[in-house]
Amino acid sequence: MDAGDLLWTRPKVTAKERPQRELKAKLLLEASAQLGVDAMGVGDGDLAFGIDFLTEHASKHGLPYVSANLADPAGARIFSQVVRVERGGKTFGITSVIGTTHKFEGTSFLPVNESITAAVAELTGTVDFVVVLSGLGLEEDKTLATEVAGIDLIFGSHTRKMQVDPVIVGTTAIFQAGSRGKHVGEATLALREGGVGWSNDEGRERSLRRLAQIREQLDRYDTQIEQVSEQRSKDRLVRLRKVTQGRLDKIYVPPADDGTTHVITGKSIPMGKDLVDEPKMKELVDATLEQLGDEPDQHAGHGHGAQPHATDTPKKDTDYVGASTCLGCHREQYADWKDTGHAHAYKTLVTEKRQFDNDCWSCHVTGANKPGGPDSAKTVGTLRNVQCEACHGPGRKHASNPPGVDMVKTPTEAVCLECHTEEQTEGRFVFEDYIPKVDHAD
Ligand code: HEC
Ligand code: HEC
Ligand code: HEC
Ligand code: HEC
Repeated sequence: MDAGDLLWTRPKVTAKERPQRELKAKLLLEASAQLGVDAMGVGDGDLAFGIDFLTEHASKHGLPYVSANLADPAGARIFSQVVRVERGGKTFGITSVIGTTHKFEGTSFLPVNESITAAVAELTGTVDFVVVLSGLGLEEDKTLATEVAGIDLIFGSHTRKMQVDPVIVGTTAIFQAGSRGKHVGEATLALREGGVGWSNDEGRERSLRRLAQIREQLDRYDTQIEQVSEQRSKDRLVRLRKVTQGRLDKIYVPPADDGTTHVITGKSIPMGKDLVDEPKMKELVDATLEQLGDEPDQHAGHGHGAQPHATDTPKKDTDYVGASTCLGCHREQYADWKDTGHAHAYKTLVTEKRQFDNDCWSCHVTGANKPGGPDSAKTVGTLRNVQCEACHGPGRKHASNPPGVDMVKTPTEAVCLECHTEEQTEGRFVFEDYIPKVDHAD
């Protein structure tokens, strides 16, 4: 199943983004057909190219789109209201719901609760489980589960959050799909004769362990804060402790199994490099990657015949000078930086043939989309890689007058989070653990 927002994560696509976005959307639709997906929800990101684009490709590839509340302007549903799928001797009835915030030409929305109630009624008695693919967002999914009876499972998209251990609300288990197709989610249902609702002891154990770890870490900070005498170190520890404290609230602890519920567990399977590519799928993906950088780009002027690297002539008036200028006066920090992943972040993309991918380049270079920084994959010039100025700010003025113009001396967590986003790193980025690797201290 696909929970929706497959084609794009936003309801609109700018004229500049559109050529590459559309290329990828076509790839995703063709790939979904080859995967043999059972049911596809429609999210508002799927309408970013217009309803005609979606219906045309859906029928071209015979895709199983389903939606309870997406309608034409006269109020008639555009896709099937429900589909039924059999797995493990049980029948699952599947529908989907799209958020109604944005307007799209050629469409209208039926009211959310009423259309899901109708879909549930259509399925009741003919299926074992009712599944909603939701493009509403986690908080709205919780409300839906509370207000509409009879939903067993919700697979949500839209917020780009990943919820591997489902949030259990009443008798509904709610998963969130994450983003960018980086994982395939797997839900395992262990059914209990006469069971009602869900429990997840495995996830509960995981959360409780994580809570205990965080509390131990907080205790360690408390001890260290007491022990250190130097004020600067104390301040640093207090800062780090506060960040750790903030993690406590974010942890969801599923309810315990009391013997009356079915048991549900979630797993996310990373689509990592260790997986062998399916040959036909690889061919499709490679054909699309070949075309990245070929599409017209208003900044580069001409597009065809993509260069292997971005041009070496960035805009002349840039505020960024690049690490080679800093090297002249900060040799030690330069040497230290050279040993970090930041110094070869662009090469990482080139290896992947993704340096012209608009979903990629901006975090693997310096100053992207900032005043005086590159504003497209083709104007990166010498600002390839995550250089000094990504953390310390643009340095042209400082470099020509060091005592007169200060740099950002202590980059904060916010600077890192511009690139080490929750979405990108799926929680891997822990400021306290990462900062010692880049602060040039031994
Ligand atoms: C011409 C030599 C020179 C160049 C080039 C230069 N700096 Fe500096 N930088 C200095 C000096 C000298 C100081 C100390 C200034 C002071 O104490 O007022 C300094 C201070 C700093 C500080 C603050 C350190 C502190 O303890 O306050 C940072 C951060 C910094 N530079 C980063 C950079 C970066 C990044 C670049 C390249 C964009 C760069 N510098 C280029 C000479 C230079
Ligand atoms: C402009 C984007 C950007 C900023 C800002 C940024 N990073 Fe990174 N960081 C990256 C990228 C991209 C990589 C991966 C580089 C590679 O291996 O190709 C990375 C890698 C790292 C790594 C190595 C991790 C690993 O698993 O290999 C550490 C540690 C790190 N960053 C810490 C930080 C910290 C701490 C900050 C803030 C002070 C920060 N970064 C700011 C983009 C950024
Ligand atoms: C929002 C910022 C951001 C974007 C956009 C981004 N990256 Fe990265 N990338 C990072 C950071 C930060 C790291 C450091 C490792 C980590 O924690 O994910 C990284 C690491 C990597 C790595 C090396 C480590 C690994 O996990 O394998 C590869 C390869 C990579 N990125 C490729 C890409 C590709 C391909 C795209 C586009 C599809 C992309 N990146 C888009 C920020 C970004
Ligand atoms: C990923 C972010 C990041 C990058 C990239 C980075 N720095 Fe830093 N830099 C820091 C942090 C964090 C500190 C420590 C600040 C503190 O503790 O107050 C620091 C400190 C400094 C200082 C102050 C003196 C010192 O050693 O503590 C200078 C000078 C400096 N950096 C220069 C550079 C130069 C030059 C480059 C590029 C060659 C660079 N930095 C790249 C994050 C970064």
